[in-house]
Amino acid sequence: MNRDSFGSRFGALVAMAGSAVGLGNLWRFPYLVGENGGAAFIIIYILFVFILCLPIFISEFVIGRRSQKNAFAAFRDLSGGSAWKWAGLMTVIVPLIVASYYCVIGGWAFEYLFKACTFSFTGEASQAAMSTMFGDFVSDAWAPLICQVLFLLATTVIVVVGIKNGIEKFSKVMMPLLFIIIVALAVYSMTLPGAGAGLKYLFTPDFTKIDGHACASALGQAFFSLSLGFGTIMTYASYVDKNDNIMFQSSSTAIADTLFALIAGVAIMPAVFAFGLNPQSGPGLVFETLPYVFGQMPGGGLIAILFFLALIVAALTSSISMLEVGVAYLIEEKKLSRGLACGILFAICLVIGAFCSLSFGPLAEVKLAGRSIFDFFDNLTSNILMTLGSLLTVLFVGWRLKKTDIYDEFTNGGTLSDNVKIFGVLWFLIRYIAPLAIIVIFISGLL
Ligand code: PHE
Repeated sequence: MNRDSFGSRFGALVAMAGSAVGLGNLWRFPYLVGENGGAAFIIIYILFVFILCLPIFISEFVIGRRSQKNAFAAFRDLSGGSAWKWAGLMTVIVPLIVASYYCVIGGWAFEYLFKACTFSFTGEASQAAMSTMFGDFVSDAWAPLICQVLFLLATTVIVVVGIKNGIEKFSKVMMPLLFIIIVALAVYSMTLPGAGAGLKYLFTPDFTKIDGHACASALGQAFFSLSLGFGTIMTYASYVDKNDNIMFQSSSTAIADTLFALIAGVAIMPAVFAFGLNPQSGPGLVFETLPYVFGQMPGGGLIAILFFLALIVAALTSSISMLEVGVAYLIEEKKLSRGLACGILFAICLVIGAFCSLSFGPLAEVKLAGRSIFDFFDNLTSNILMTLGSLLTVLFVGWRLKKTDIYDEFTNGGTLSDNVKIFGVLWFLIRYIAPLAIIVIFISGLL
């Protein structure tokens, strides 16, 4: 069977960056930075990204490109058909669950873009009114469901079209656009009177706040932000040309992802502080605090439209990467057509996502392990299974695969001299440091 692939180096790069840059950058990173010691947290985060996460990213890249198969088959075939395939199966299933609840939030962004276009935030509305508006919306049974389906539909349509013509083309247009919007928002935000307090909140280093919990948050955020442990990088890497440079592609993605997160912080925090508000995390920040800020600032109507557009683009380029993991699996292992594979996964994500969406309203009382359905899936995947997936990935590459094969893949058969030089260090990080650090930080986070 002829396998689809990325058409160009740049296309592969923006697709990967698109997967990495998402809701994690726009609504979680800025808040975590402020909460956990400002620049001190940024330093720890950057160290984690480049010392721990980059080797894991490269491990996923190597598995994907070496095998040129879906995540399940990659683990199965590279290990000669051993039990490692179950690790592969896990990395196929987990992103589907993430995609399900990710689309719920993507749907909210649709609704808020609509609200922004109809000037719903302008006027003297108070922050409390914005909270009520948000509460009313998410607890409604139908409105968020319809938005979720729309977002999921948009995701599915892009994936149906394929790698080169769908995912790659979309990312090529949208990622530069996203960059322009975020930079413009950051510039505008910094010109607001009182913006300095937001910059101070982000960038004043406070090392006393760096403890086990802060480190665990930084690592968890770095994993999530780089889309690690979910089979997505592996799957995208399987469509990357054999002549491309894995080190270059991986480090560029990591740099782009970190840059987007920092710029998002500069776009959001100064504006929040300029209006005398305190930052919250997650939904509260994006759907309650910011709409109030938009309603107050000069030109806020346009800024709101740009912001929610950026949020949608960032979320879509991530959700398509999650869906593709399962689609690749169904096409190659179950011999389905791309269309049918997408249809099946659409239905699965629709059902799981509907439960997640309803858990803010009609199903609010239903608890799984003491959490709402949405929180349960979020916690299970982005805290536990993601860490497990990353750990298994580095153990697989560091201890199961042959070192010569990794070397061969990473250096393109010894032809990339820079990669040849750093291979020793990379190997050491993958084999010893990454697994140990993941275990230590995961446990310290639990305690
Ligand atoms: N990296 C994305 C973000 O920061 C989320 C994501 C997770 C994407 C897992 C793909 C796979 O929002």
